Amino acid sequence: MTAIENPGDGKGAPLFHLLNGDLCYANLDVNNAPGVWRDFGINVARSAANRPWMPALGNHECEFGVDTLSGKPGSAAGGVAAQGAAGNTWNGPYGFGHYLSRFLLPDNGVKNWDGNRLRGNFYAFQVGTVQFISVDADDVIYQDGAANYVINTANTAPEVTTTGAAIPNGTTNYTRFYTGDLKLDAKNNSLVPDYSKGKPNLQTIWLEQTLAKARHSPSVDMIVVFMHQCALSTSVSGNGSDLGIRQAWLPLFDKYEVDLVLSGHEHDYERSYPVRGYDAGEHGTVAAPNPGQTKGDTVDTRRPSVAATEPSMVNGTPAWNTAEGTVYLVLGGGGTNGPTNTYGTDAASDEAQAKVITTRNEVVGSEAAGFVKNGADALEDAPWSAAINPTDAYGYSIFDVDPGSHPGDTTITFQYFAIPAVTNLTGTAHDGTTTLPSAPTEKFVFGRKVGKK
Ligand SMILES: [Fe+2]
Repeated sequence: MTAIENPGDGKGAPLFHLLNGDLCYANLDVNNAPGVWRDFGINVARSAANRPWMPALGNHECEFGVDTLSGKPGSAAGGVAAQGAAGNTWNGPYGFGHYLSRFLLPDNGVKNWDGNRLRGNFYAFQVGTVQFISVDADDVIYQDGAANYVINTANTAPEVTTTGAAIPNGTTNYTRFYTGDLKLDAKNNSLVPDYSKGKPNLQTIWLEQTLAKARHSPSVDMIVVFMHQCALSTSVSGNGSDLGIRQAWLPLFDKYEVDLVLSGHEHDYERSYPVRGYDAGEHGTVAAPNPGQTKGDTVDTRRPSVAATEPSMVNGTPAWNTAEGTVYLVLGGGGTNGPTNTYGTDAASDEAQAKVITTRNEVVGSEAAGFVKNGADALEDAPWSAAINPTDAYGYSIFDVDPGSHPGDTTITFQYFAIPAVTNLTGTAHDGTTTLPSAPTEKFVFGRKVGKK
């Protein structure tokens, strides 16, 4: 809070603050979730009372208390019935009730196929010459990342939380496609809205409409998309990259030349080179097979193509032309003090290496046999990874927007401030106070004309 209100560049507080999801992990404290949200609200009020906090939905915002996509209590095993017996309560459509009741967010005007309005789940707003778009990647990811609870041991008793509520082992909410269907377009290895059953994915349709409008608007120069999960991440101890985002939304980010994509999910820092399109061929190798996969098989991970590896200079600061490629940033750190800033390396080539989730890694099993949830299934060499931070997991960024003098002149000066004293050592937690940084770890200019002769 101190850093947001008085950032390290000494120029005062920002107009507004972006959060890339997983705000406070209330989903893991069943029966005390409102209390966790209350504590979070009290903690952040020092800043949130002064300026808009604009969040994106993360997997930890999908809370227990619902087992049907319609949001109506159902009777699935381990679902609402079991939760109800444990004293748990229903938490709104898709389990997002707590989040949506605490943030009054711009309306996207979209009503879901089940009749629920989707206000706040994804939204857009323009500030100056920049269009900001918040999307909910829970809708397109392969990773079973929403509220779930798995003990990989047979006959393990349900977890009893601090407040006495039990989470039945194997409980999961998988919200993929909750705004409608996507289908594979094999020739482009992409996922596109599927109209065949009359319920195409509404968020993806809205996203394309919003991107097209922004890119064609004379008042918008740059487009910043933010979401929780990562299309590009080389974290080993974290989640890695999700093919679902690459298939569903990266074709749109390419088509409409999105300038920056911000994400969280990992508790670390990572920056990509500008990327555009993808490298043809099967650049992934199955390392941890999901059902239907064979270890060692190759898989098309739709690996983003690097557009540039050498920045130009603007007034002595390295600069990237985002008209040539989208830059992906993993920022922030999520809502816990468990760092994930160990990063993959291909031992053979010494290149950066990413885990990629290429199929649904759903929870499988039974109470008798035990439940299992795989991690990421494939590995790819990741030439797109430009910067990581194995030293300090957590940090924040300042984005200074300069609209320039003419349409198209906008630049964003980006500074990342790593916060020291949070390491990736086992057992190390960030407790107590720390000295806030006064110098950025990285500083770049992003713009659509930079480096042009
Ligand atoms: Fe997450």
